Amino acid sequence: MRLIVCEHYDELSDRAAEIIAEVVKNKPDAILGLATGSTPIGAYQRLCEMNRKGEIDFSRITTFNLDEYYPISPENDQSYRYFMNVNLFDHINIDKSATHVPKGDAADPEAECRRYEAMLDRSAGIDIQLLGIGQNGHIGFNEPDRDLVTVTHVTSLTDSTIDANSRFFAKREDVPTKALTMGMASIAKAKTVLLLASGKSKREAVSRLLDETVTTDCPATLLKLHPDLILICDKDAMPE
Ligand code: PGA
Repeated sequence: MRLIVCEHYDELSDRAAEIIAEVVKNKPDAILGLATGSTPIGAYQRLCEMNRKGEIDFSRITTFNLDEYYPISPENDQSYRYFMNVNLFDHINIDKSATHVPKGDAADPEAECRRYEAMLDRSAGIDIQLLGIGQNGHIGFNEPDRDLVTVTHVTSLTDSTIDANSRFFAKREDVPTKALTMGMASIAKAKTVLLLASGKSKREAVSRLLDETVTTDCPATLLKLHPDLILICDKDAMPE
């Protein structure tokens, strides 16, 4: 694992955007794995800025997002499709038809997961997968559990995730109870995994990443098995 410790969130965002921009410059038809959540927003802003200045070109880039709520319509402002449009895709010269997010309005969610995994398999493979980390060590909607499903699958949100995400919805009952998420093996097929952790609330999860064990109790620790894992933390997220 390569560990990069930054002073603060802004520096973390700069470093993450630089690493992704390098991939895009070196491989104009690269495939990016993308994530939602508050952590990557700064990096997305930097990438929008670089694109606006003509420093990077997304016209041949393909993207796959990690996850989506279920059921949810892509027009819902809490959907991850909406988040990606607003925070990145609407501001860069990417072909929207080459941006993939699991379909939260699919009639058959299991079939949608199979379709998504098959599409990932048929692709040339994700060059770099950007990830945030949950306070409990979840990755996407792969929540701590005894057993984890390796491929894209339908999962139920835990009460703690519903609680954490309810701040974005009018009321707790509005939070979808399920999600479609890439599995840890789908994620680990990426050539490089770029994991971001910011803030004190992530310290415990980062500390488990930095110890020498792996456990499905903290799905992020499975990423330690990946040959090219980059962890960027700010000082607040670093254990003392
Ligand atoms: P956050 O979410 O970036 O909003 O902290 C990360 C996650 O839960 O995966």
